Order: sequence, then C-alpha cells, then structure tokens
Amino acid sequence: MNKQKHSMQPIPSHDEAVRQDFVTDFRAFLTDEIYPKITPYYQSKIEPDFIKEHGRKPEDKKEVQNVMLQDSAYQSWSFLQRISQQMMFTSVIDTVERTLDELIKKTKKYSELGSLELDQTIQIPRYLTAYDIHQQPGGYHTENTENDISAGVVYDISLPIYSGDAMGDENDLLAQATINFIKNNIKTVPKKILDMGCYIGNSTLPFAKAFPESEVYGIDVAAPGLRYAHARANALDASVHFSQQNAESMSFESNTFDIVTSCLFLHETSHAAIPKIINECARVLKPGGWMIHMDVYPFQRNVVEPLYDFLKDWEVINNNEDFSGALREMDLQGIFEEAGFSEETIEFTSAEASSETNKGYTGDFYLKLPVYVAQKMA
Ligand SMILES: C[S@@+](CC[C@H](N)C(=O)[O-])C[C@H]1O[C@@H](n2cnc3c(N)ncnc32)[C@H](O)[C@@H]1O
Repeated sequence: MNKQKHSMQPIPSHDEAVRQDFVTDFRAFLTDEIYPKITPYYQSKIEPDFIKEHGRKPEDKKEVQNVMLQDSAYQSWSFLQRISQQMMFTSVIDTVERTLDELIKKTKKYSELGSLELDQTIQIPRYLTAYDIHQQPGGYHTENTENDISAGVVYDISLPIYSGDAMGDENDLLAQATINFIKNNIKTVPKKILDMGCYIGNSTLPFAKAFPESEVYGIDVAAPGLRYAHARANALDASVHFSQQNAESMSFESNTFDIVTSCLFLHETSHAAIPKIINECARVLKPGGWMIHMDVYPFQRNVVEPLYDFLKDWEVINNNEDFSGALREMDLQGIFEEAGFSEETIEFTSAEASSETNKGYTGDFYLKLPVYVAQKMA
C-alpha cells in the first residue's frame, strides 16, 4: 500500500513499511481485541475479590488503581499499550531520518501559498519541555538540524498508525467534525479563522478548504511543526498563515477573528495556562465571534464510576499526557464566563464526524467528538 498521502511525506522503504504495518496491527489488536475485555474481566474477577476482602465495591479510581496495578493481566495489557506507542515512534523515525535532507530541501519549493513567521526568541512553555509528551522523543519542539521539520513529519506519519487509519487521508477527521458543527449550529461564514496549537495544520487546512473565502491562521510554539505545516499546506494546495506564537499571549490585535478554534490542544497545556488562553480567545475574537475547542471527554460528570475513572487516566499515568486528567476537573464554565463569553451560549457538547472520512476504526470514539463552545458577548 502506498503510504504517501501527499508529496511532503516521505516514502518508507519496504522494511520500514512492514514494521509500520506491524505496529498498526499490533495497536489495533490491543485497542479492539484486548481493551474491551478489561471491563468484563474486572467485573468477573477483580471486583468480586475486592468485595470478598472489604465487604463493599471500590469507592473511587484510587481503590481500583490499587488492585488493578497488582493484577498481572492488566499489567500485561498496560505494558504492551505503552510499548506500542514507543514502537510506533521508532518505526517512523528511521524513515524520517533517512529522508530528512531531501524533505527540508523540498520545503523551499513548497512555500508559495500562505505564509510562515517564526520567532527565535519564543520560550517553549515548561509543560511541553518537562517530559516527552505522549512519548514522542524530543516532543513537539526539539530541533536537531537547521530548518528542522523532523518532529512535524514524525507526527504526520505516526497518526495513521496511532489511530488505525481512522483520521482520514489528511488526518482531518476531527477538524471536519468541528466544521460540521459550525455549519449546522453556528451558520456563520467566517471571514477570519484562528486555529490555536495547530502544529502541522491537520486541524487548520480543513478550514481553508471548507471556507475558501476566509483568511485562515494557525499558531503554535513549535517551529519544526510550523515549518512542516507550511510546506504540507502547499503540498495539499491550501493557503494558511502560520506563525510561531504562544496562545497564552498572542500578537494579534483585539477583535480580529470570527472563529477561534483548537483541536487536541487545551489538554496539553496547564492549570495556569488555561485561563490565559481563554482570555486570549475572548480578546482576539470579534464581538459575537465563536470559540470552539475540540478536546478530551468527559466533561464535568457528577457520577463517580471508579473503573471508568481509572481507565480514563491511563493516558495520564502511562502516556505522558499529564494534564488531560486535570483539565476534566477544571471549572471551564466559570473560566469562560470570567473571560467574557456569554453564559447562555456556553456548551460542552459533541460534534459529529462523517464516517466516510474515517477509513479505519468504526466505533463511536472517532465519530462523536467533544467540543467546548462559547460566543463572545456582542
Ligand atoms: C496534540 S497537538 C495538536 C495539533 C493539531 N491541532 C492537531 O489536531 O493535530 C497540540 C499542539 O499544541 C501546541 N501547544 C501547546 N501549548 C501551546 C501554547 N501555549 N501555545 C501555542 N501552541 C501550544 C503544541 O506545540 C502542539 O503542537
């Protein structure tokens, strides 16, 4: 199968492709075959043993964690799941290293549409440098050579392995869901759109294509992703203005955008960053403009489901997604109101992706996606 989805992507050698296919299947096996067995296994073995010992069910995720982490079947799945993420990156890094010089040369050619502005003085926030986020070696920002794009390429070609090809040919499934949401609910034709934490533009390009009359901007702190984003946008014939900026404090003038959006971004920041980012969204939006962030489930829930709560934290504990659990517990409603979004427009809801974009995984996980929505007061 030809793995190259656009001309900025490298073509893996035969052996690299075979390794990448193996990891794709291995991950699909762990996700589709083993993961669904955890709940019935817990209900038939772990919980009854706990009840025998304590005379009651576990009360919270901590109690579930104490028993699950001692269980060899759970340990095996969790270990393999963590290792499969490392194998995914190892399997694509060879391809990227082998082709990097050629790809960097290509970025010069793929530069006509849109623009790219980098800021060499930018400080990468500590929440992105303290550890390798979701185990990507070097994270999003590390540069090892001049005009490096390798971290961006690695991200691009590992996503189909991560998701079992569920994100669509242009990794655009999630952004398509946000666009569906805008078309069905907001019904505005935006003149200016901003995508925060855009990285390689997966979540940005679909806006340029869906709203061809609009000016589309993408910001991120990580230069390797932005350089690749600009070249990738050109390879995919999309015009986007990319710039290296921290979403906590942007250089855009106030009242500039009709829509400010983000995708898989907020959960990779921090407690301190969230109110600053939301304030910035309110500042750069025009009065009456809309903010739409696609991010993690669940929203604030009042029910305690100890096993569910424990499993939801797997990424936090094992995949270096440290803030994703804490984001779920923040008072986002309060933060949105404080920033100037009108109370009655704030919604924590879901956006539907089309099953046609999704070429692989067929479950709900990739089809009904969480969005946090609010309108700036007019
Ligand atoms: C999981 S990636 C999502 C990329 C893209 N939106 C997508 O859907 O594929 C999160 C991105 O947020 C960026 N990021 C994190 N904190 C940021 C901040 N304060 N300002 C700008 N970008 C940030 C990271 O560099 C990373 O590229």
